[in-house]
Amino acid sequence: MPDRNFTQADYNHHDPKIAQDPYGFLAKVRGGQCPLGHSDELGGFYFPTTYDGVKRVFSDYRTFTSNEGAGLPAQLVRFFPVDLDPPNHTRWRRTLNRFFTQEAAEADRPRIQGLADKLIDAFVERGSADLVNEFTRPFLAMTMLPVIGCPDDDRPMLSEKLMWMVHNRLLDHDGWVRRYTEIGDYLMGLAAARRVAPRRDDLLQCLIEEEFDGKRLSDMEVYQVLILALFGALDSTSSAMSGSLFHLGQHPEDKRRLLSGEVAWPVAIEEFLRFTTPIQTLRRTVVQETELDGGALHPGDIVLCINGAANRDPDKFVDPDRCIIDRDARDHMSFGSGAHVCIGRHYARVMIDTCLKTMLGRIGDYRIAPGFTPDYTSSEARALKTLMVEFTPGPRLLAG
Ligand code: HEM
Repeated sequence: MPDRNFTQADYNHHDPKIAQDPYGFLAKVRGGQCPLGHSDELGGFYFPTTYDGVKRVFSDYRTFTSNEGAGLPAQLVRFFPVDLDPPNHTRWRRTLNRFFTQEAAEADRPRIQGLADKLIDAFVERGSADLVNEFTRPFLAMTMLPVIGCPDDDRPMLSEKLMWMVHNRLLDHDGWVRRYTEIGDYLMGLAAARRVAPRRDDLLQCLIEEEFDGKRLSDMEVYQVLILALFGALDSTSSAMSGSLFHLGQHPEDKRRLLSGEVAWPVAIEEFLRFTTPIQTLRRTVVQETELDGGALHPGDIVLCINGAANRDPDKFVDPDRCIIDRDARDHMSFGSGAHVCIGRHYARVMIDTCLKTMLGRIGDYRIAPGFTPDYTSSEARALKTLMVEFTPGPRLLAG
């Protein structure tokens, strides 16, 4: 095998132009002289474009470490547990797991349903809405912030700062550092207040009481966990929900097939997750000589796993650029794979399920507003910025 076999293509997930349609670009690399891509952007990195290549990177942490960070460029501080390899990673994961089990997410369904109804009530009489900013984004934050331990009153502030940080990482370094510090101060203040307040059953409480090797976690470690949980709680699931609603708004026959029971919801939800791929990229760093997608890699090389490339590999998913709601997409890469497979995935599935069933049940005739043009955010996360729809006005469900 020749050394440094790859297809040169300057992919950059922070480029707003690429974010509008990364898939055509990635398909060209996959079909190039070597399916391992190389980009000179962001300091230079390699990227597999096949499903098998991406999966291999995620499953082999001894060759592809997360210790150098899962973001490209690296975040200012390491996030836990995503920027750690086993066995260090494993003990953090054990600590966090109980808040995110399937049972915990299922038990939370009544509260989650109430939130969906409350948000829809706020626009159902109007006959039009922006489903991203009036529904999927606040729905996700209102669901997850109490699990983490952040008061709902702080939601607008947290949402504004975190979304700004996700989408301006390369554009305004000083603004980015300032918000990091502000969120750090906020989380430290929250932890200090909780230490002297009545106990509650949430992630924050767990972190301030947790001990590793007989030692309490430092403020910095609490911060490193909470900030990652906040990113999970404010962005990715909203993207899956709005992307699914966009598809259904364009394909009334798929709405009908879901409502009639012809297609089972869990099957369609996995396909929506594949098709939308809310987290597009994750970085790993090579620590030993290896080969990937037909190219050689050396220690120190940066590898960017593009989940969207894996999810659109035609050798894995036939006709991958079509959203086919009854296909078996369970193997999709949207939650990653291996040791770091998304801890929030059970919550995400319950939220997507509730969101879609409630929308179709209450405002089944919604359609995409005339003239609406999709515009996607760029960065590790790819999401619709707005989703304008129209529908027949209906009644509120809840009083007040
Ligand atoms: C559709 C929604 C979601 C998607 C597509 C998604 C995607 C991902 C992916 C791809 C990873 C793997 C990271 C890696 O391999 O380096 C991950 C990890 C993680 N996700 Fe999610 N996520 C979603 C929802 C959530 C939610 C609701 C939470 C709740 C707070 C969450 C919290 C986390 C955490 C803490 C990790 C780190 C796990 C570890 O390193 O072991 N995610 N997520």
